[in-house]
Amino acid sequence: MKIAIIGTGYVGLVTGTCFAEVGHEVICVDCDEAKVKLLRDGGVPIYEPGLDELVKKNTGTGRLSFTTSTKKGVEKSDVIFIAVPTPPQPDGSVDLSYIEGVAREIAGAMTGYRIIVDKSTVPVRTGEKVAETIHRYGHAGVEFDIVSNPEFLREGFAVEDLLKPDRIVVGISSQRPAQAMKEVYEPFDAPVMVTDINSAELIKHASNSFLALKISYINAVSIICEKSGANVQDVAAGMGMDERIGRRFLNASLGFGGSCFPKDLSAFIKISQELGYDFGLLKEVQNINANQMDRFLKKITETLWVLKDKTIGVLGLAFKQNTDDVRMSPAIEICQRLLKEGAKLRVYDPKAMEKARVILPEAVYLKDMNNVAEGCDALVVATEWPQFKELDLDRARKGMTCPIIFDGRNLFDMSEMEKLGFIYKSIGR
Ligand code: UGA
Repeated sequence: MKIAIIGTGYVGLVTGTCFAEVGHEVICVDCDEAKVKLLRDGGVPIYEPGLDELVKKNTGTGRLSFTTSTKKGVEKSDVIFIAVPTPPQPDGSVDLSYIEGVAREIAGAMTGYRIIVDKSTVPVRTGEKVAETIHRYGHAGVEFDIVSNPEFLREGFAVEDLLKPDRIVVGISSQRPAQAMKEVYEPFDAPVMVTDINSAELIKHASNSFLALKISYINAVSIICEKSGANVQDVAAGMGMDERIGRRFLNASLGFGGSCFPKDLSAFIKISQELGYDFGLLKEVQNINANQMDRFLKKITETLWVLKDKTIGVLGLAFKQNTDDVRMSPAIEICQRLLKEGAKLRVYDPKAMEKARVILPEAVYLKDMNNVAEGCDALVVATEWPQFKELDLDRARKGMTCPIIFDGRNLFDMSEMEKLGFIYKSIGR
């Protein structure tokens, strides 16, 4: 298939690259000239495992190309995917101006039938608005179909999730684009669910909100574990053995972050309200998440008492493992709150230090995780990078003024930490 992808962020770039990898001819469009130049020169603006190699390989075969011209993308393609940002607004709704702008550009460039697929995460009924916009700004007599095809990839596992998806959701309002969508996804060997556009849009918001709910649920359970002397990891393991519940997304933590869950929860609450329903359950998911961060910070202040002039080491800055993304990162929030109390920070992240430096210029950045604890009054684990489990704990203990660890991701074994002589505080254990 000949495919255009408008927007080369996490979703657009990974989708375009994987489409090229399975044999489609893909042209990725982005209005950011510097980004397009970088991509054309073989660079990749984000860290995502496996993406670098795939971009190089597919630009090499000529199946993947980049341009700043929407017109060119539309001319050369049968199916056009919209993958532009839908950032949050202060009132919780999402800014749909990028989607609207791109819809107008596509409309202006279309001279024959095209399928326009929305991949960006949008509130239910956005497809209707996109169709209206294209009608209004398109040339008379030029036909098109709108499709909703939400994306379910996780940052840090994006290539894997895209190449081996659990399901593909396709929302259509007529049968005409169905065959082309089938051909786009034929090489992926995954179940395809075909539904109407509103349902497809809702599947995305409802899925992300449900996963966030799962995390908040186990985080609330972690509080009861702490108060009763139970172990949240054992509770999660026992619950997860029930196939109806499942173990995934039951890792208690200092809270979820990133550019998706917080934004999508607010957007889902907002659109529900506009449709006349008060989604109180999801408001509670937000409250539990915020409370989890407060509780973690309270543990630190209760133990260290005064934070002013204390040196604290922080392992992890990204919002999760395997990414350099620091947007809405709980790790960054901890750092900011510790700095506000007057603490000095020594920090390390395997991939996110460059991006964090812009937000946290005051911190001391270490190149080796084993140097972080040197001279620290406490060490905080803020991101679930698996390599933190390989920390030289003996060296850390000897280098610290007091051997105290606050583990916001339950990475370490409690009894081992105690054996090594640490004061060790984690979540729900
Ligand atoms: C999420 C969804 O998982 C994807 O399916 C979806 O496509 C994506 O949003 C999106 O809308 O684009 P992502 O935000 O990349 O993906 O990352 P997740 O792996 O879902 O993690 C989100 C946050 O939850 C992270 O801060 C992570 O540390 C936290 N988390 C995750 C927990 O605290 N506990 C868990 O058990 C799992």
